[in-house]
Amino acid sequence: MTPSRVLIVDDEPDMVENCARILRRAGYQCLTATDPRQALVQLDAERPDLLLTDLKMPGMDGMELLRRARELDPALPVILITAFATIESAVEAIKEGAFDYLPKNFTVEQLRLAVERGLRHRQLQLENLNLREQLQGALGLENIIGRSPAMTKVFELLRKAARSDANILVIGESGTGKELVARAIHANSPRAAQAFVPVDCASLPENLLESELFGHEKGAFTGAVKSKRGLMEVADRGTLFLDEIAELPLSLQVKLLRALQERQLRRVGGTSLIDVDVRLVSATNRDLREAVTKGQFREELYYRVDVIEMHLPPLRERAGDVKLLAHAFLRRYGGERITGFDDVALETLETYTWPGNVRELQNVVERACALADGDRVTRRDLPEHVLQGAGVRAAGASATAGAGPALPLASGEELPLKEAKEKWMQVLEASYLRELLERHGGNISAAAKAAGIDRKTFHRLINKYQIRG
Ligand SMILES: Nc1ncnc2c1ncn2[C@@H]1O[C@H](COP(=O)(O)OP(=O)(O)OP(=O)(O)O)[C@@H](O)[C@H]1O
Ligand SMILES: [Mg+2]
Repeated sequence: MTPSRVLIVDDEPDMVENCARILRRAGYQCLTATDPRQALVQLDAERPDLLLTDLKMPGMDGMELLRRARELDPALPVILITAFATIESAVEAIKEGAFDYLPKNFTVEQLRLAVERGLRHRQLQLENLNLREQLQGALGLENIIGRSPAMTKVFELLRKAARSDANILVIGESGTGKELVARAIHANSPRAAQAFVPVDCASLPENLLESELFGHEKGAFTGAVKSKRGLMEVADRGTLFLDEIAELPLSLQVKLLRALQERQLRRVGGTSLIDVDVRLVSATNRDLREAVTKGQFREELYYRVDVIEMHLPPLRERAGDVKLLAHAFLRRYGGERITGFDDVALETLETYTWPGNVRELQNVVERACALADGDRVTRRDLPEHVLQGAGVRAAGASATAGAGPALPLASGEELPLKEAKEKWMQVLEASYLRELLERHGGNISAAAKAAGIDRKTFHRLINKYQIRG
């Protein structure tokens, strides 16, 4: 386990050194500052576990530092060191949220005890914070909606996988809830009281991502005016979530692999090795195995990150969940005013294929709630592409089943003739193309030739109607 880290601030260098010596001997890692401004910079960059500061300093007093520090980290225990004459301000400081205070002439034992109590307090606070969040369901499984057989399987695996310490790879199309699942894994794991740290591997250029992930020392590159802990260090004893891991550049893959193997890392521009203990949850919407074959992803790293594989099914394969999710989002976005969907709207949502998965459904319901005039969401509140997609699929299905013309009146809606005609043309066109394609065994060139149109046009049309060969 990595030692707890204490930041010691006093304008007298002797005092700082004295405290640091005592605390180092007690097994803590000490950071020091003789200027409160510099202390703030360190607080931000280093995120220590406890702050020990003098109350009276030139430039900024300990109270101000206390306030700023707790803005950065509300759970940070702060111990103030104060001369006997200022005991009143020490009491004031406690009211402001300081954890404890010590007289200037403290004994070694007093200092050690205060720091130990402060750190224990922090630990409990973090655990409480986390328990509370779990109770509220903010991070737990309750938050992931779904009762389909496909999702039930996901929940089963999630519970089991979470309690182990094995690295997990979550695979699923965009918007299927990969990040939600990663958070639930953490919240249900023994590491729940520690940090969950997400990193999006696709969002930053390589060198920035490197220093973000591994940290850097002061002067490591132009602009590195102070040293900074990387997110991997921040995730120590907790969970590191590497989103879109397939996008991690090869050089960083090598560095990550080494850190995972050795449980140690080196900051950019640094020489010393820093212990890290992280559990890795990664997510991808690409086929990582294929990336390995193509030489885009290191094989050894692949085996490290993919100890347990979790597949999130696309929404179109979660029977019944669309309705469940739609109602949940309606409660979230519709407030008191909107009480439900009318039948046609709900049927449209259930028939659509949701290429953007849960995120798309969430957006569509949010938009519909904003547009709805009355107390229900109707077909009119849904975007055109959802109506079209759903309509064509429904009509296509009935056409191939030989059920005869069913749309557009079947949906219960009464359209003007012009619109109805257009819709029918689309229905006919779609089923014609589908049949032709089937007859030619999915061969697009042959089907296009039979239709008397070129291949490209044929292709465009089957894309438009989402027909697969
Ligand atoms: N089963 C679910 N129940 C409730 N909300 C969900 C569910 N799945 C996803 N969501 C919501 O849908 C949105 C997208 O989910 P998330 O960001 O986890 O997806 P993702 O797979 O990480 O997507 P991307 O690949 O685009 O990053 C979020 O707002 C999330 O809260
Ligand atoms: Mg995501």
